[in-house]
Amino acid sequence: MEPTATTVTAPPEVGTFQPKITAFVCNWCTYAGADLTGTSRIKYQPNVRVIRLPCTGRIDFMLLLKAFARGSDGIIVSGCHPNDCHYTSGNYHARRRWMVFRDLLDFAGIDLRRVTFAWVSAAEGAKWAELVDEVTSRVRELGPYREYRALTSAGIE
Ligand code: FES
Repeated sequence: MEPTATTVTAPPEVGTFQPKITAFVCNWCTYAGADLTGTSRIKYQPNVRVIRLPCTGRIDFMLLLKAFARGSDGIIVSGCHPNDCHYTSGNYHARRRWMVFRDLLDFAGIDLRRVTFAWVSAAEGAKWAELVDEVTSRVRELGPYREYRALTSAGIE
């Protein structure tokens, strides 16, 4: 079931920057948590676009780069808490990859404040709303991410 559209708030003010946030979430925990946010009618910023993965163990460095290249201003990667992964250790693989991704992203000149890694369970609808609000506010302060898009439009990807 898709998170309901009735739970999102209207954009706060006309004319303010509305960042595009892409969230890569695992099917079993964070996606269900985001759905709970909707069914609980908890309000949160409407800037996030959710991409459901079977598990955060599926996350790949190129997915992050492609999201930025296609217009994202910020990224969330979120899955099950440690020991709760439905594939036993996918989230541990994701956590180890995140350690490497951070160095690669930093090397590529990507502002690490634009990428957030989190754990949100199926029972944490309120936490999902807080996470989205926090990331949206932070990225809004950083402004549009034009630098990476300028590189990719120049053919450097
Ligand atoms: Fe959620 Fe693996 S199934 S992180």
